[in-house]
Amino acid sequence: FFAGMHSHMLQSAGSVNQANARTLHILYGTQTGNSESLANDAANAAKKHGLQPVVKSMDEVEIGQLPQMQYLLIITSTYGEGAMPDNAEMLWEAVNSDAAPRLDNVNYSVLALGDTSYDLFCQAGIDWDSKLAALGAKRLFDRVDCDVDFEAPAEKWLSEVIPLMAEGASTVAVVDTETQVAKSVYNRKNPFPAKMRVNRIVTALDSSKETRHYEISIDGSGLSYEAGDALCVIPTNCPDLVAQIVKAIGCTGAEDEPVNGELMKLSDALRTHFEIKLPSKELVEEIASRSGDQELNALLLSGDKEKLSDYLWGRDILDLLLQFPGVEFSAAEFLRLLKPLQHRAYSISSSGKKHPDSVHLTVASVRYDAHGRQHKGVCSTYLADLVNEETDVRIFFTPNNNFRVPADDNLPMIMVGPGTGIAPFRAFLQEREFRKAPGKNWLFFGDRNASTDFIYREEIEAMRSSGLLTKLDLAFSRDQAEKIYVQDRMKEHGAELYAWLEQGGYFFVCGDAYRMAKDVDQALHDVIREHGKKTLIEAVDYVNQLKKDKRYVRDVY
Ligand code: 2AM
Repeated sequence: FFAGMHSHMLQSAGSVNQANARTLHILYGTQTGNSESLANDAANAAKKHGLQPVVKSMDEVEIGQLPQMQYLLIITSTYGEGAMPDNAEMLWEAVNSDAAPRLDNVNYSVLALGDTSYDLFCQAGIDWDSKLAALGAKRLFDRVDCDVDFEAPAEKWLSEVIPLMAEGASTVAVVDTETQVAKSVYNRKNPFPAKMRVNRIVTALDSSKETRHYEISIDGSGLSYEAGDALCVIPTNCPDLVAQIVKAIGCTGAEDEPVNGELMKLSDALRTHFEIKLPSKELVEEIASRSGDQELNALLLSGDKEKLSDYLWGRDILDLLLQFPGVEFSAAEFLRLLKPLQHRAYSISSSGKKHPDSVHLTVASVRYDAHGRQHKGVCSTYLADLVNEETDVRIFFTPNNNFRVPADDNLPMIMVGPGTGIAPFRAFLQEREFRKAPGKNWLFFGDRNASTDFIYREEIEAMRSSGLLTKLDLAFSRDQAEKIYVQDRMKEHGAELYAWLEQGGYFFVCGDAYRMAKDVDQALHDVIREHGKKTLIEAVDYVNQLKKDKRYVRDVY
């Protein structure tokens, strides 16, 4: 009784205050959910300062609404080489068009998320910041650019920007129990230690690839997830690689070093706290300066980023150290030149409804030879080789609220997921099976060779026979002289694909961002032009409308 009455009183108090409270608009541009979760943090902080927060994904905002957003926070990540995240693209185009309105009444601040290992660090946030200013908006607080360890700078930005946004407004705290965003108890700083239950190679042994199926137990964790979510895995580095690096810099590994306020042996620190594969810019510069190597110094001086990245292509930290054996570092010097070890996010390949006690992943193990050595991807080979019955794998979930099975079980789903891009669609199909959803399902899948790379073949064929998969189109690129890709199959079946879209169908893409997703996007436009009898501009509008309706969604990397 008391609990019920209490929450009722809080809610009505909240709604009274909300009528007078100043509205703070919080728009996020996100690719993997970090900005979205920060936007929710901002909303909670705003309420404590008497502000009435309105959180929106950028694709939910029309350009005409911007001039009315008198108090505005923009939180955006940058995608790939300086690009806007998918959900920010359309609003960004709109503010750059000739018809963009003036924003003289807007007071704003930008929080930019990025990764300093890319050249165009935080570019999307930088672009928003200067564009808003150019349109007459007032920058109330300077932009903050965050590297991959974004929590601390983001929190600092919030703690300063929110009081500024609230200045002069009524300071009665708005208490609104309904819109508090529930947070998982497990996160980056406090991951769940999970057991690996299944680790199985799903490509054939004579395949040119090694793709594995994992099942990780979340039994007893209280955690749950939705089809479409990603699982973040915090890896550790290969002990053998650590040993070789320690030797190459002239240390023993037993050196005690302070890491996050704790003394740690160098070897342990390298294994558990730092990225030791890709060299930071600072490390490359330091190696160049200490070695005096002419080629590398000339490359750095030239400012020719393309040539430098060609040079560094496939070369990891150990390659560079072995190349210049005279270059040594003290443990402390070396650690200062490294970046903190990051988690890796993987699209989950199971449905939490069908598998409430476990999470399935489908991951290609990265292994290649270069510069006279065997190289291994950090997290994919950590999962493959280093997690066993005894060692826990540290995990947490990131929701991906855009990438979801349609709420309406009757609508068709078209899924394009070659290679490990199939992962979320295995989850989607399990979800639809569990829900007994009558909607049609169409999967485009492919890889190099059918005989070795047709992962989950039995499951897929069973889904085809049961009727769960209405249509299945396969593209094995290397089974014939000419390359055949998923987008070729889309075009072959263009009339039907367009018909599915016209029936309200959803179009999902998962996998390689740089080549596949671009070509699939082109093919989608081509299909709509040809079979919808549209001009190029009409086809672009049609696709934009699909994006706006969240019926064209991608999970690409
Ligand atoms: P390929 O390597 O034989 O060229 C998964 O890696 C599959 O994606 C492979 O069959 C690969 O083909 C294919 N692939 C490569 N480039 C692609 C592109 N631009 N569009 C679609 N698929 C592509």
